[in-house]
Amino acid sequence: MTSLATQTRDTTFLCAEGVSHVYPDGVQAIADVSLSLAPGSFTALVGPSGVGKSTLLRILGGLLKPSSGAVSLRSSPPHLSPDPVGIVFQRDNLMPWRTAYDNVCLPLEVQGVRAPERVQSLLELVGLDGFAHSYPSQLSGGMAQRVALARALVHRPELLLLDEPFGALDALTRERMGQELMRIWHAMPVTVFMVTHSITEAVRLADEVLVMTGYPGRITEHVVVNLPRPRELSLEATTAFQKLVMDIRAAIEEAGV
Ligand SMILES: Nc1ncnc2c1ncn2[C@@H]1O[C@H](COP(=O)(O)OP(=O)(O)O)[C@@H](O)[C@H]1O
Ligand SMILES: [Mg+2]
Repeated sequence: MTSLATQTRDTTFLCAEGVSHVYPDGVQAIADVSLSLAPGSFTALVGPSGVGKSTLLRILGGLLKPSSGAVSLRSSPPHLSPDPVGIVFQRDNLMPWRTAYDNVCLPLEVQGVRAPERVQSLLELVGLDGFAHSYPSQLSGGMAQRVALARALVHRPELLLLDEPFGALDALTRERMGQELMRIWHAMPVTVFMVTHSITEAVRLADEVLVMTGYPGRITEHVVVNLPRPRELSLEATTAFQKLVMDIRAAIEEAGV
């Protein structure tokens, strides 16, 4: 018989317990956040601006130490093993003097690893094989975010954190990037945690949507998205999809924001 502790270990990749954060200026950003991510799952976090979503994401990634509470990533604290995490922010943060290829190489260079085939195959996976030698100024916003995604994945992280990665893109490019992200996630064994302000994007991509509301932010709703995969854009026209979107919107509005 398997013990409960073993079961939890097997079904939980990342676990946050009672996480709160107060910034040095006294602003309490989040309060008592607990969540767990199953290995290989896709979780979206939605909520109004300023509610603490980025703060939570940075804590999950080990970039920020919480004032209280704990995060464990396969039972090792993330700040002790930075390699399991890849992050993409809203702005691509590419180095303008490096080509797409050289930007993607960067995390490997930091680790002293040379893996040109891996870089090349990732550029192909994100649909940029013809642009390896282009500079960021020669790329569209969507293409630059693809480079940022490849750079976040090149060291083979187990956890991919995305903070409004498509927030600066136009609506059509954004939809397309969402579909691409799902394809990439299916092709790689990675657990995804994505902050987005688009409820439809969250429902279309995720297995579970967490709703954060209040000041300080708390997770006030967990919505399981039991829609079949692969998910096409046409799914948005279905009653099941629209009901999930309405439930999440109601959860945000009930909180009075
Ligand atoms: N570095 C910081 N120093 C002080 N306060 C911060 C800092 N970063 C964020 N905050 C504050 O914490 C709260 C939550 O911010 P944030 O996590 O960025 O929210 P969101 O990503 O949901 O918009 C806000 O009140 C914000 O002003
Ligand atoms: Mg934010």
